[in-house]
Amino acid sequence: MTVLDTRPAPVHARESRPRHYLMCAPTHFAVTYAINPWMDISTPVDAERARLQWEVLRNTYLSLGHRVDVVEPMSGQPDMVFAANGGLTVGGRSYGAKFRFAERAAEAAAFATWLRGSGLTVVEPEHINEGEGDFLALGSMILAGAGFRTDLAAHIEAANAVDRPVVSLELVDPRFYHLDVALAVLDDGNGSAPAEIAYYPGAFSPHSQRTLRDLFPDAIICSEADALVLGLNAVSDGHHVALPTEARDLADALRSRGYLPIPIELDEYMKSGGSVKCCTMELHS
Ligand code: ARG
Repeated sequence: MTVLDTRPAPVHARESRPRHYLMCAPTHFAVTYAINPWMDISTPVDAERARLQWEVLRNTYLSLGHRVDVVEPMSGQPDMVFAANGGLTVGGRSYGAKFRFAERAAEAAAFATWLRGSGLTVVEPEHINEGEGDFLALGSMILAGAGFRTDLAAHIEAANAVDRPVVSLELVDPRFYHLDVALAVLDDGNGSAPAEIAYYPGAFSPHSQRTLRDLFPDAIICSEADALVLGLNAVSDGHHVALPTEARDLADALRSRGYLPIPIELDEYMKSGGSVKCCTMELHS
């Protein structure tokens, strides 16, 4: 006799794994040029408020037991606080960044020098790419964005550099100019639960939406409203998910999947088109 199991699917018991992050203090943070639709040079940044908000994020990671290193900020590089853009590191190998715009070009060498100094092998890029802004490690693969900041040719270069398969995704909405503002990795599938992501479909071309549907049929679908407060620019350790305070529905969805959302106030950085993930480079082991 077949017994029909009508119990609801179990919510996975979420497990955090200790992470290693790299951040850059917002000593020189400001909006002095506009290279994405969020930036408006006539809107002033409150430097003291920005400093406090960054400290809260850093202390949050530390209190969760993660390791946080910091790279020396460079004067004249107001966007260097967005450490995610400085490279992609997986399994002891780093793929260096090569920025799209001249305004940020000098950051690449600073991040590469730090990574090399910490014992990593850094592969110098030939193609334009903005590090973890467009490359998100998920288990054994890398999800990669192209369309605004990172060239498609860099996807193959990254795959060879860190020796991981890359899934290319096309970004089509300039408000979501990096993959990390359109998609969040929640569980990398390296523990007991399967890989899980959240994303805003409208940020992707139809064929990339299809790729995401096929690969992640159970993904959390983020609303446009939550994506527009940079809700997807989140950092998960497998259990705790640091995300912008304003993304309330996304926080509820995370809770219903067994995650513990940790709202972080980072609105000073939203003026530059960044939030939690942008301020955080993860050194994936
Ligand atoms: N103002 C910065 C830029 O446009 C923001 C970078 C945000 N970083 C990120 N990983 N999405 O380059």
